[in-house]
Parts: sequence; C-alpha cells; structure tokens
Amino acid sequence: MQAPLIDPFQRAISYLRVSVTDRCDLRCLYCMAEQMTFLPKAELLTLEELDRLCSTFIGMGVKKLRVTGGEPLVRRGIMDFFRAMSRHLSSGALEELTLTTNGSQLAKYADDLAACGVRRINVSLDTLDDGKFAHITRWGRLNQVMDGIAAAKAAGMRVKINTVALKGFNEDELFTLLDWCATQQHDLTFIEVMPMGETGDRLDQFWSLKDLRRSIGERLSLIPLAERTGGPARYVQVAETGQKVGFITPLSHNFCESCNRVRLTCTGELYMCLGQEDRADLRDAMRSGLSDGGLEDAIRRAISLKPKGHDFDYSRREVAGQMPRHMSHTGG
Ligand code: GTP
Ligand code: 5AD
Ligand code: SF4
Repeated sequence: MQAPLIDPFQRAISYLRVSVTDRCDLRCLYCMAEQMTFLPKAELLTLEELDRLCSTFIGMGVKKLRVTGGEPLVRRGIMDFFRAMSRHLSSGALEELTLTTNGSQLAKYADDLAACGVRRINVSLDTLDDGKFAHITRWGRLNQVMDGIAAAKAAGMRVKINTVALKGFNEDELFTLLDWCATQQHDLTFIEVMPMGETGDRLDQFWSLKDLRRSIGERLSLIPLAERTGGPARYVQVAETGQKVGFITPLSHNFCESCNRVRLTCTGELYMCLGQEDRADLRDAMRSGLSDGGLEDAIRRAISLKPKGHDFDYSRREVAGQMPRHMSHTGG
C-alpha cells in the first residue's frame, strides 16, 4: 500500500480528471473559438499511455476517475479505454468511473458505458431551445443530445445536467430547466462562467449563482444538503419536487480549500489547478523510458506543487485571474 497523495495544503488527492482529446464536435461560444487548431495525433497520449498513467494514479489512491475532453466520446477507440478502466472498478481500487460529455454521441455509446460500470454521467446542456442550442454550440442539434440523454437513462445511468449560467442567454429558462429536470429525474448543476480562453466578455456573461439561487428561492423552498459527490458542487433539495440542484461557484464562493482533484490533459500534462499554470509533463517522462517507480516520484513531485487555488475574480468590475488556455485543454 502506497502513501496517499497529499498536497502542500494537506488536501488528499483522490479525484483524477482526464481529458482524452482536445477535439469536440461542437464549438460552444464560451468554450472554444470558431477556428480551433487541434493537436496532431502524435502529441496525444496513446490509449496504452492513458491506461498506464490512470492505473498509476489509482494505485496511488485515486478513487474517482472522470473522463473529459473536448468531447471524450469523439476520441477513436475510447470504449477500449473505458473497458480497460473498468477492471479497477471490479478490483475495488476505483470507486467511480464516469464522464462529462456534451451528449451528442451518447445514443451510440450509452449501453457500452453502462456495461463498463459507469453509473452516473454529467451532460453539459445550457438551453432547452433548439435555436438557442444551435447558436451557443455554433452548429449543434438539440435533438441529438436529447436522444443521447434518453439512451443514457434507458441504459440505467443517472444523468446530471451541467448548465453554465449565462446572463442574457439562459436566465429566462431557469424554471423551464428546473421543471424539465424534475420531470425527467435528472439532477441539475449550475456553473458560474470562468475566464478561460479568449472567448468573449465574461463580465457581460456572468450571472452570479447567488442571484440565481435567490431567484429560485422566491418560488421554491430550498433545503441545503450535506451530501457531496466528490466534486465542487454544493447541493440543495427542492422541497416541492424532491429534485437535487447543485451550484458550482468559483466566482461567488471559492471552494478551493476542499479541492481533491488534479487534471491530466490529452498530451499528458498534469495540471494541479484549473485556474493556474502549474503543471508537469508526464508524457515526455514516460516516453523517455521512466520506470514505474520513477513515474510515481514524478507524480508526487508534481502534487507537491499544487497551488492553494485559482485567482478568478470579477469583483472589481474587471476580469482577474484569466487563463489563456481554453477549457477544452484541461477538460473543465
Ligand atoms: P460530480 O461528480 O457530479 O460532482 O462532478 P464534478 O462537478 O466534479 O464534474 P463536472 O465535470 O460535472 O464539473 C463541472 C464543472 O465544474 C467543470 O466543467 C468545471 O467547469 C467546474 N469545476 C470542476 N472542478 C473544478 C475545480 O477544481 N475548479 C474550478 N474552478 N472549477 C471546477
Ligand atoms: N466557464 C464555466 N464552465 C465552462 N465550461 C466550458 N467552458 C466554461 C467556462 N468558461 C463547462 C462546459 C461543460 C464543462 C466541461 O465545462 O459547459 O459543462
Ligand atoms: Fe465542446 Fe464541451 Fe467545449 Fe462545448 S463546452 S465546445 S461541448 S468541450
């Protein structure tokens, strides 16, 4: 048994988010530029390298593995990777194998994902209106995502909808989204828009979840829940419907003190924080023939550099803590 991964602020690292591709079949306005230059294949970790790295982390105490992107389901051979990771669920080393997806390819993969032991998936969806969906994703089709969500549910997976709260975009859909999720029995989590990548004016888009929560509270009774999923969301239950609603508030309420996660990019860089540049290149270390022990040492050295938190801040009426890289680079 290895010593657990502990960072300089005494936080145990038990959650690894792995971006398996920087590509996506959509181009959400707040996430990507219209003309993105994607990485050549040689830069990407192979599925074998991804397996080696994730398995090493699991051996070092990671209990929750979330596959992200870009859109993880557009990576060729991705189901082979899920099948490979499911062995860690079977052995009991891993407690949760899951993914964050835009849902566009879910109809095709839902049954296979469920067979790999994925019990819960997060689907990003900011609107229930066809035209607005096509606008915000630049060309996506809402019914494709709806079919995907239905397939996930039919395969027995729980679905959590992730909605980025965007002023002037989905404010008018707050109760439509809540009602739809209550009817469909999906959990729903709202996310404050973060200054990642150069994609528009965040101050204009920013809708504080303090305000959003107050608006819900004017019509419905919210009961705070102690329950956590291992992610940054704080949950409430809506007394009238019983549904669970989460709030991810990097701007209005910083949650970094309880951070338990690190991020691996599709090129094998380990980012210690979504909102900072501290990182370690594990791909070159692996490709130069590093032993398993050497790889573990490299991971421990990286974790010893984990910063206290992000510096995102809009409070002075300007954007502070901006990250030049896009969300798709580090996988959200
Ligand atoms: P659950 O397992 O359902 O709790 O998921 P999760 O919230 O950990 O994962 P998900 O992929 O649904 O994350 C939703 C969004 O929360 C991400 O895309 C990010 O935008 C944001 N988020 C997740 N982790 C962090 C973090 O460490 N820092 C910041 N600032 N935002 C984060
Ligand atoms: N701020 C907040 N959330 C973002 N996402 C993408 N870009 C941003 C941003 N700038 C969300 C997506 C998806 C998840 C992977 O990250 O909507 O839910
Ligand atoms: Fe693709 Fe997700 Fe980014 Fe939208 S938010 S462009 S679906 S990675």
